[in-house]
Amino acid sequence: MLATPMTIGATTTMRVINFGSLNIDHVYSVERFVQSGETLASSDYQQFFGGKGLNQSIALARAGVQVLHAGSVGSDGHNLISTLADNGVDVSLVNEVDGASGHAVIQVDKTGENCIMLFGGANQRTQEQSIFHALDQAQKGDILLLQNEINLLPLIIESASDRKIPIVFNPAPMSDAVLNYPLDKVDYLIFNQTEGEALASQRGTDNILHRLRQEHHRCKLVLTLGSEGVIYQHGEQKIRVDAVPTQAVDTTAAGDTFIGYFLAALSSGGDIDHCLQVACKASSICIQTAGAANSIPYREQLGLIF
Ligand code: RIB
Repeated sequence: MLATPMTIGATTTMRVINFGSLNIDHVYSVERFVQSGETLASSDYQQFFGGKGLNQSIALARAGVQVLHAGSVGSDGHNLISTLADNGVDVSLVNEVDGASGHAVIQVDKTGENCIMLFGGANQRTQEQSIFHALDQAQKGDILLLQNEINLLPLIIESASDRKIPIVFNPAPMSDAVLNYPLDKVDYLIFNQTEGEALASQRGTDNILHRLRQEHHRCKLVLTLGSEGVIYQHGEQKIRVDAVPTQAVDTTAAGDTFIGYFLAALSSGGDIDHCLQVACKASSICIQTAGAANSIPYREQLGLIF
């Protein structure tokens, strides 16, 4: 158990324990998204490795951060584990459980926007003992990263908070259950506009941030806005950074790339403005390639120092 509360950043020894999903992504290229009652032909089909958890671990690793991925795959998930390992992620906390791995059915339209349907599979079969085992691996300076694609998240948040491990939570995909999670224990909340609207029961970025500041005043808020950039808010400090203008081929994993690079830049001790710029640049590179984990850039590709 760790003795004192820690802050994120300014430590080169920061490791990330990412307790998150691993998915096989089935990706279909479509002219436009299929409508209710309609049958639509796709012009291309490819399989990629993804899952918000796996993507964020790979983004962190490619950005130079030491990552331990915790999670579960089914008997069909060996390639998911080897993809993480090949990218330098520690996979000793990934378990194999009965049944199928998680997967996603993804439509990508001609503008590069996506539409995702998830099957949780092994991601929804996290066991209590694997949570305690994973969190017991935390060392001084480590942080915990979570998304909303696995089960038992309230227990994970409570247990990490008891151990004084800083928590970064990406409430994606958003669900009603998130509203009952112990978000007062979270240090960083990183969310997009849709997630923000549901979290805050408000529309419009100012209203969302205002409400979330009132409800979770100790939490640092990062609102990602796609091609409109990103807004950071903590207390009175508010920083807006523009997106890097880019022709999108496929926006899948752009948010995951943003999170990995934002945390990597924070761990190097950069100021928030610079960390947001690093993350926006990384996302802009990600969306130029089709797929999920495969489209996440390596640190050298950014041409930025952090
Ligand atoms: O954020 C993109 C990811 O969301 C995809 O890789 C898919 O698996 C879903 O989890």
